[in-house]
Amino acid sequence: MRLTRAEISLSNLKFNYLSIRKAVKNKPVLAVVKADAYGHGLIEVVAALEKLENKKPPYYGVALLEEAIELRKAKITSSPILVFAPLKIDEVDFYQKHKIIPTITSLYEITKLNNVNFKKKFNVHINIDTGMGRVGIPSKNAVKLILELLKNRMIQIDGIYTHFATSDEKNKSFAIIQLNRFNEIIDVLREKKISFGNIHAANSGAILDLPESHFDMVRAGISMYGYYPSNETSESIKLKPVMSLISEVATISEVPKNTSVSYGREYKTKSDTKIISVPIGYADGINRGLTNKMFCIIKNKKHPQVGTITMDRIMFDIGNAPVKIGDKVILLGNSKSENINAVDWCGILKTIPYEITCGISKRVLRKYN
Ligand SMILES: Cc1ncc(COP(=O)(O)O)c(C=O)c1O
Repeated sequence: MRLTRAEISLSNLKFNYLSIRKAVKNKPVLAVVKADAYGHGLIEVVAALEKLENKKPPYYGVALLEEAIELRKAKITSSPILVFAPLKIDEVDFYQKHKIIPTITSLYEITKLNNVNFKKKFNVHINIDTGMGRVGIPSKNAVKLILELLKNRMIQIDGIYTHFATSDEKNKSFAIIQLNRFNEIIDVLREKKISFGNIHAANSGAILDLPESHFDMVRAGISMYGYYPSNETSESIKLKPVMSLISEVATISEVPKNTSVSYGREYKTKSDTKIISVPIGYADGINRGLTNKMFCIIKNKKHPQVGTITMDRIMFDIGNAPVKIGDKVILLGNSKSENINAVDWCGILKTIPYEITCGISKRVLRKYN
């Protein structure tokens, strides 16, 4: 059996979640578990958080109705689940049946909802686009459209939120513009005595560095999985990466100087050496852009990856290190004194840790500990 696996530390996950909760002064933390909990495994991550009893998340946040239904089918029945995607009117029955909360993002949805004959109250959250430019009711029309939405007396606004475009940047000026736009809407709604439930705005960047955006609840994604959203945020909350990526030494070849390795002969050995192959490749989420740039750790020593990354296998030049077939290979994770994490790959691939953890494909077995 192939030993390649992503080890998911549920204790690090709980440590991060509880650290975030403490940092926001025990305000409720919506756990963002979309995209299979950023690649960590939706059901297992939620099951672990549910065990936190009176400290467990008050809501789970997903991108798709299907992800919410998956949670309900896994017997996560009592916790509210918020879907960030715009509501599709033909899905209203699913939302009601499974007690899932949709997001309302536009006049289009509001107009459709006006004509629905609900038998019981329909809980929704409203997303206000204060500058993200993705989805959401434009802040200029927000109050007018909320009044329009409430024409259907069966609609209950359980929450109102916005999403920051730049909270992970050092310069917070645009995040503050967004925050001001959001606050103005809240003020008008209060003046008009319109009830709107929980106010929430902060993603990880704002959790770390914009306390005035914490409102009634924050929404933690990447920080819960142990990474800062960028290298421009503070590290005011200590976080521990949750995912390690582990494989094994499959083959060892002794080769002379000037031997080419892998497709395209992109690497030639500099001296007589040993080349090992490890059963993981781009089909598992090891981006080809890491070719000749990444490292692994074997027995607490780092070794350079060499030759083009292939679909199922990558090679390392280990010199004459005392390595045996079957030895553990750490691609992401810690040994006694060495460490490789997603941020190292981000530097090479010009990406963000989100894409790295989400990109570890389904073929890689998740092992929970
Ligand atoms: C609406 C919404 N809220 C919160 C988050 C969590 O963001 P982060 O992972 O930066 O904490 C996301 C993720 O992109 C999101 O789409």
